[in-house]
Amino acid sequence: MPVDGKTREDAWALVTEYTDSENLRAHMLAVEAAMRGYARKFDEDEEWWGLLGLVHDFDYEKHQGENGHPFVGVQILDKKGWPREFRRAVLSHADYTGIPRESKAEKALYACDELSGFLVAVALVRPSRSFKDLKVASVKKKLKDKGFAASVSREDIQKGADELGVPLDKHIANVISFLASVEEELGLGDSYEASRGATEEAEEEASAG
Ligand SMILES: [Fe+2]
Repeated sequence: MPVDGKTREDAWALVTEYTDSENLRAHMLAVEAAMRGYARKFDEDEEWWGLLGLVHDFDYEKHQGENGHPFVGVQILDKKGWPREFRRAVLSHADYTGIPRESKAEKALYACDELSGFLVAVALVRPSRSFKDLKVASVKKKLKDKGFAASVSREDIQKGADELGVPLDKHIANVISFLASVEEELGLGDSYEASRGATEEAEEEASAG
């Protein structure tokens, strides 16, 4: 079901028009997959949740700074006819907008955003570059290692799980399984190119969005 007439093609067109960075595009695809996974789990509207994950950072690359992302993004979404409820959810994923997260989709977006970035960073420094053999315990270890993906707020990851009402360990396990199903599209697992600088990239990826 499209979101008030908006399709995944519309969402992807926004992503590709505004975002050149492969890493940031991959981040949005990762959050889309996590949102779709949770929508199925909670028996919610998968398309609505998925498109929200896909577009949530589309303006991040071009509009950084206090009045940039996501304020500029929602203005663009408004002009293009994306519904108010959807724009509100995009705003609510950034704490500094002051828009409180109320709906389940808003809480899921926040919970999936930072954690997806962190999990991609963890996958990138593993020999397999894969989520398929990634254990929750390994992720928890990396969370405790303050020097690893230092730009990712551990507090926000915990807060996201709390707001969503899913224990952190369970949330990590859920998102690992959601990301594992799309890892080829994210350039991970078997599709990872060994020539890419894994550690540098992990840091870059973790700080996206
Ligand atoms: Fe994000």
